Amino acid sequence: MNNTIQYSVDADGIATLMIDLPGKSMNVLCAELISDLSECIDKVTTDDQVKGAVLASGKSAFVAGADLTELVTAFDRGVTAEQGYQWSWQLTGVFRKMETCGKPFAVAINGLALGGGFELCLACHYRVMSDHPKAVLGLPEVSIGLMPGAGGTQRLPRLIGVEKALPVILQGKKLSPKKALELGVVHEIAPVEELLHRAKTWLKGTPHVQAPWDVKGFKFPGGAGANTPRNAQTFMVGTSLLAANTQHNYPAPIGAISAVYEGCITPIDTGLDIESQYFGQLVSAVTARNMMRSLFVNKGAADKLARRPEGIEKSRVTKLGILGAGMMGAGIAYVSARAGIQVVLLDTDIESAERGKAYSENLFKKAIKRGYSTQEKARALLNMIHTTTEYADLEACELVIEAVFESREIKAVVTAKTEAVIPENAIFASNTSTLPITGLAEASKRPQGFIGLHFFSPVDKMPLVELIVGKKSSDEAIARGLDYIQQIRKTPIVVNDSPGFYTSRVFSTSTNEGMTMLAEGINPALIENAAKMAGLPVGPLAVMDEVTLELGYRITMQTASDLGDDYTMASGFPVIRKFVEELDRKGKRYGKGFYDYPEGEKKHLWSGLVELYPLLDEQPSAQEVIDRLLYCQALETARCFEEGVMDYAADADVGSIFGWGFPPWTGGTLSFIDTVGIKHFVAECDRMAAAYGPRFAVSDWLRQRAAAGESFYQVGTAEI
Ligand code: NAI
Repeated sequence: MNNTIQYSVDADGIATLMIDLPGKSMNVLCAELISDLSECIDKVTTDDQVKGAVLASGKSAFVAGADLTELVTAFDRGVTAEQGYQWSWQLTGVFRKMETCGKPFAVAINGLALGGGFELCLACHYRVMSDHPKAVLGLPEVSIGLMPGAGGTQRLPRLIGVEKALPVILQGKKLSPKKALELGVVHEIAPVEELLHRAKTWLKGTPHVQAPWDVKGFKFPGGAGANTPRNAQTFMVGTSLLAANTQHNYPAPIGAISAVYEGCITPIDTGLDIESQYFGQLVSAVTARNMMRSLFVNKGAADKLARRPEGIEKSRVTKLGILGAGMMGAGIAYVSARAGIQVVLLDTDIESAERGKAYSENLFKKAIKRGYSTQEKARALLNMIHTTTEYADLEACELVIEAVFESREIKAVVTAKTEAVIPENAIFASNTSTLPITGLAEASKRPQGFIGLHFFSPVDKMPLVELIVGKKSSDEAIARGLDYIQQIRKTPIVVNDSPGFYTSRVFSTSTNEGMTMLAEGINPALIENAAKMAGLPVGPLAVMDEVTLELGYRITMQTASDLGDDYTMASGFPVIRKFVEELDRKGKRYGKGFYDYPEGEKKHLWSGLVELYPLLDEQPSAQEVIDRLLYCQALETARCFEEGVMDYAADADVGSIFGWGFPPWTGGTLSFIDTVGIKHFVAECDRMAAAYGPRFAVSDWLRQRAAAGESFYQVGTAEI
């Protein structure tokens, strides 16, 4: 035994298997636990004194899922589909042994049970679940590129039918205790302190020792297989929705739905075998590696502040100042108040400040409507936002975030006014989207306390905050900025100062490429649709309309004047200039841009585009358009890495997925290079540089890296 389960038997002959991984805050299905579980099942089975057993957890949650640290490196270790199959089949074997051992197993689900943790519960004969709202059941594997591999795709449909099981398996829908009871996924819900007692009461009664699907004459709820009318419709709609939503970029949901489809017309053991085979194929392939690494491991590390400088005391913001109550200031006020922080929201006139606060009021109203908040809670949080025009009100703020107009002069004035009243050791952060932090910090008397906190719009929805380190920013300022990001439950990346920082700089290459292709005569519908096929959230032309061409125009003019002779005009800028200066089609906010926005109708590409930019007789393939859109972003990221804008591949990847929606199947911009292979990547960039222009030119640094076959991540590790 490895000490992961405490085994005891009470006077009534009921064994308790208390799962409690030593030294861990959560139980995960690691190799040691699986082995201990197998031994405990054997003990229960062979000990005549033991009538049955209850599984329980010594932690506040039940079991969080499989131990991903092993799975995430499978691809890099060269694990084959057969080995992946064996991994799943071994776990399935242990669960199946428990299910068919002839003695009853109950489970006391005291908190969340996800992935393999939930699958373990499904293999028990009786399930009692805590009624606490934090206790949820779910199969989130698909969202990180995997699929259930311990019976989830077989037992859940057999328990509640295909139609109700698919959203849990494919969309990772979590089940609350109430919902789990309603669906028949658990037998009882009870206060957490009664769980063991209830489970034991069942065991001492006349418990069944077979799962429903092992009982002769078992009827599949809603019918088995695809030919029953309900299932036929479910599979038909399900597969077409999957294809539309994933564009075949994601093998995991396809594997999962295939396992359900094929496994449901076979006996359970064959079904489990089918599931393990699909699991093996997934875990040995690169998409699962990419997604597990970036969406789970590296995002998790970022959330735990992996980049926080050491030796600095943990801090909390109790009073936050926000300068500028416009779109960004209002959003930052909302997420901060929601985290229980007192907010002073300052603008030039009280009406603007109030308008900023009203934004929060609206969002709180929506939260109440959806049942996420109550009147009292929302009122209390709203009362945390104090609107003002007086700088004196910023007194005692530990952190002030500036979100006034994007003008160096205005930002300099508000910095000085703020520093006159805030404590000496307060942190001043700018939310500028384009102006280098080091330059803005020149207006500060204490540049060591000056950082960038770059939020994304809409602030309440976007999960990332880019922390920008100026030349003089101190470690303490970085640490406290990161603490604040964690406090408001966002994901941070740390980036060194550079024009456009990381996210804006890289993201703008794809909108630029989209506009360049338009000017070349590539069909705008092809550009937009290819972007969606690649898995980008929206096409580059639609994005430009959203952020407004006018903003692109202003930023370019500003950068051109800042850089003077050093400025190289972006290939897509002539398009922006034409739309802003000549056509007055400045973007969605103005009712027209690359798209038309007719009232009450869906937007559509402006018909004048093809007159302006006549279509090439020979159009490129969709794949070529996709490659141009993805390669330009990956290449720009490599340049950022080379220049030291960021120090870790993980930050680049997490930032690209959570900052602007770079396709998650790629694992992020640098994982994309590793996925296609750095040599192939460089060769393709060379080809594109020759065909489309020097923006695809590869630096010597990258070429040497490619020649040496050096990937951005060290092979076999989750992080670098
Ligand atoms: P906005 O125009 O919606 O709001 C700016 C607010 O600042 C207005 O309410 C204005 O009255 C106020 N303001 C102007 N001068 C002021 C002063 N001297 N003192 C106090 N308040 C003053 O602008 P938005 O979009 O909220 O942007 C604010 C900052 O955030 C800019 O630096 C922008 O570049 C940056 N940013 C914007 C993003 C976006 O998607 N809009 C994304 C990330 C950063």
